[in-house]
Amino acid sequence: MNYPLPPPEANPAIRDERFQIRVRGLTKRFKEQTVLDELDLDLERGKINIIIGGSGQGKSVTMKHLMGLVKPDAGHIYVDGVDLVPMSDYQMNKIRHKFGMVFQYAALFDSMTVYENIAFPLIEHTRKSRKEIREAVTEVLQSVDLPGIEHKFPSELSGGMRKRVGLARAIVLKPEILFYDEPTTGLDPVATKNVDDLIAHINHTLHVTSVVISHDMASTFRIAHRVGMLWGGKIIDIGTPQEILASTHPRVVEFLEVSGILGRKETVA
Ligand SMILES: Nc1ncnc2c1ncn2[C@@H]1O[C@H](COP(=O)(O)OP(=O)(O)OP(=O)(O)O)[C@@H](O)[C@H]1O
Ligand SMILES: [Mg+2]
Repeated sequence: MNYPLPPPEANPAIRDERFQIRVRGLTKRFKEQTVLDELDLDLERGKINIIIGGSGQGKSVTMKHLMGLVKPDAGHIYVDGVDLVPMSDYQMNKIRHKFGMVFQYAALFDSMTVYENIAFPLIEHTRKSRKEIREAVTEVLQSVDLPGIEHKFPSELSGGMRKRVGLARAIVLKPEILFYDEPTTGLDPVATKNVDDLIAHINHTLHVTSVVISHDMASTFRIAHRVGMLWGGKIIDIGTPQEILASTHPRVVEFLEVSGILGRKETVA
């Protein structure tokens, strides 16, 4: 008989209280294109870790690996010392309960109300009663500052509100790690700041490890505890926002200048 395998053991040599996720030698090719090239990355437990980098550099591909949605060609992804890479789908589904995900486009089900969207993971993954689910949805909508919108449809909400509903759905199962891929894409500066504040608030109150991909340098330097830059398939520099602002790596300096975070030396198209 074929019994499902238990989750693999943690590797004590790599397990570290400071870093909840540790990536070693991650390599991914699509046909002849090498997108990730022996990438190493450590993400701090309980902190806001932001990955920056130009379009097409492989930020979303990296995040999909961290979430176990894509398998690499080589390398290891340790979550609390346990390597995700060799896991079966069954083992991966168990581990994924630790994860909450907020995608680039809020990805709500348009035909469902806000209530149904947020209740969905609770119905799928828990044995909560209808009353418990109703209470959990009410509570999580309060925590994203959108009380009482249970009966609305996504089409009736602003872009910023949709993002916050997406965030509510991501946290309703009380994950340990929250992944955000470009959470503020398409939002105006005020809505962007609201989402940033919410990411910081949720990081703090739920004690989650937050992993954020961002294009938005103002957001990044406002809320990050740790910033890593992806370029050429590797994390070329990582540190506190102050350390990254003081980086001497030419690609980091160039990226920050073009982004308008450092004084521009020249106009770059
Ligand atoms: N499933 C796939 N098949 C083939 N190529 C892919 C696949 N997914 C990503 N790529 C390629 O990998 C590269 C990195 O893509 P990725 O989406 O990670 O970039 P990104 O850094 O997130 O960019 P953006 O900032 O525009 O979102 C791109 O060249 C992309 O075309
Ligand atoms: Mg992307």
